[in-house]
Parts: sequence; structure tokens; C-alpha cells
Amino acid sequence: MVKIPNITLNDGYKLPALGLGTYQIRGGEGVQQILAAIKDGYRALDTATNYDNEGVVGEAIRKSGLPRSQFIVTSKLPGKYHEYNEATKAIQESIYRLGIDYLDLYLIHWPLPKRNHYVEAFQAMIDAKKRGLIRSVGVSNFEPEHLDRVIKETGVTPAVNQIEIHPYWVQERMLAEDQKRGIVTEAWSPLGRGNGAIQEPLIQKLAKKYHKNAGQIILRWHIQRGIVPIPKSRNLNHQRTNLDVFNFDLTADEIKEINGLNKQDGRIDGQDPNVYEEFD
Ligand SMILES: NC(=O)c1ccc[n+]([C@@H]2O[C@H](COP(=O)([O-])OP(=O)(O)OC[C@H]3O[C@@H](n4cnc5c(N)ncnc54)[C@H](OP(=O)(O)O)[C@@H]3O)[C@@H](O)[C@H]2O)c1
Repeated sequence: MVKIPNITLNDGYKLPALGLGTYQIRGGEGVQQILAAIKDGYRALDTATNYDNEGVVGEAIRKSGLPRSQFIVTSKLPGKYHEYNEATKAIQESIYRLGIDYLDLYLIHWPLPKRNHYVEAFQAMIDAKKRGLIRSVGVSNFEPEHLDRVIKETGVTPAVNQIEIHPYWVQERMLAEDQKRGIVTEAWSPLGRGNGAIQEPLIQKLAKKYHKNAGQIILRWHIQRGIVPIPKSRNLNHQRTNLDVFNFDLTADEIKEINGLNKQDGRIDGQDPNVYEEFD
């Protein structure tokens, strides 16, 4: 079993340097897939109310037989619940569905700036943290102006910003913006969700050089940039190899070369946080 190193967040809590994405992992077979990942060593599990699978994540935790304290569970607030009272109830509902007493990390899923309720959503999360329902409060898909508003208006800096990052969308500017504010960046769709990044000749060449697979090269690239990737896999071999990325180093030039794969329109689904309105 691979032991994943921890990083420390700005509120003192720890976060494993790599977690398991769970989008579309659902139902009984989903429980088995998450259990297999737990057996391999995954402890950080990333879910969201919008994935309709908080139940599966909670069930896998219970079935694992491991103490709750070993897991770092992340869930996310849907856009339709950004108003203060709605956010408060949404947090409680997530906890009930997961069947746990507290969330380790809770994120605003998307800022939805046109609706303009994300600051009160963040305040509701801060208040839930004070009541022991959440350990770390964070955000997802936030741009610098959204970060600055929540920090200025609530006095609390998010611990994490989870954003789209993969070799076609490397996000150098946003990574620096998070780092400047002491926020840990998590990468969603870290492998590019089948967008071709894994097949890139540069990635394949590096895989040969390091005797690793292409997924491992991309995950190592994230880790050396100080990013926490949360790859999703239902495949036992992928789950296992995706964890085995803490025993080699890419060179600084190789990291720059991978950054060079960035595309002007590299987002997987064109989801620009300034205008994107999540399904609700
Ligand atoms: N905050 C947000 O707005 C947001 C948005 C999207 C996603 N997320 C989170 O981020 C997680 C990860 O993103 P994602 O699921 O979109 O994409 P991803 O992790 O980049 O890619 C998942 C795909 O890659 C395949 N894969 C995994 N490991 C592989 C490997 N080593 N070699 C080749 N293929 C591999 C998986 O197939 P197999 O199952 O066959 O391995 C799956 O089809 C999600 O599950 C979710 O938790 C958050």
C-alpha cells in the first residue's frame, strides 16, 4: 500500500498530496470501486452534492472498517443553495447523506458571479465550521476577484481552490494567484478526462524514460508544481498506478516542457468560471 504524503493547509489541517475523484462513481459497483481504492491507500475522497454519490462515498468509508479519522472527505455546495440559510441546510444534508459527523473540506462548487451569492455561502460555511460541521472551508473554480471578495468580506482565506488543470490547461496565472494568498490548489480533471493529453508524444516519451505510465507522468507534473491532483478511476490498475507517483522526479525543464502543451482554448468543456452556471 502506498503511503501518500500530507500537505498542511493555511488553517493547520492536513490534506493528502493526492486524492480520488469520484464523479460518476455511483451505486453498488461504485462502493466496490472506492473500497478497492481505499485498500490501495487512497484516503482523500472528492465528492459533491451535484455528483449524486455522497451516499456511495459514505458507504465505502463504513465498509472499509477503517476509523473515520483516517479519511479526508471533500464535498461541494451546489449553486442553487448559495443563499445563507440554504447553504446551511445543504451542508447538513451532505453530512446526513454521507453518514458522517463532519466534512473535512467543503467547497463552493462554482462562484456563479452573476447570481452573486457566493460571499454569503462562504459565510454560512465559516459558521458551520464554528459549529464543528466542517474542518476546512474552501472554494472551487474561483478567479482572483472572487477570492479577494470572500477574503475581504468574511476575513477568512479559503484553504483550497479546486480548479481545472491538465497539460492542455496549465493555469500558471491562477496557480500563482492561489499561492500568493496561501491557498492550496487542487486540480480537477488532472489527467484531462480523455482529452488526448495522455497520448501526447512528450508525455509518452517521459513515460518511457522514467519507466512509468503516462498518467503517472502527468500526476507527477502536478505534484512537483505544488498542486494536489484528484484523478478519477474505476480501473483497479489505474487506481493503483495513479498513487505510485512519489518515488521519482521530473526535471525543471521537463515540467516547463509539459507546461508548453497548454492551449489557448484548452478547457475540456469551455467552462469559464466567470460565466459558467452549473446544472441545478
Ligand atoms: N470542482 C469541479 O468543478 C470539478 C469538475 C470536474 C471534476 N471534478 C473532480 O475531479 C475528479 C477528476 O476529474 P475527472 O473525473 O473529470 O477526470 P480525470 O481524473 O482527469 O480523468 C478520468 C478519466 O481518466 C481515466 N484514467 C484514470 N487514470 C488513468 C490512467 N492512469 N491512464 C489512463 N487513463 C486513466 C479514467 O478511466 P478509468 O476509470 O478507465 O481509469 C477516466 O475516464 C472528478 O472525479 C471530480 O471528483 C471537479
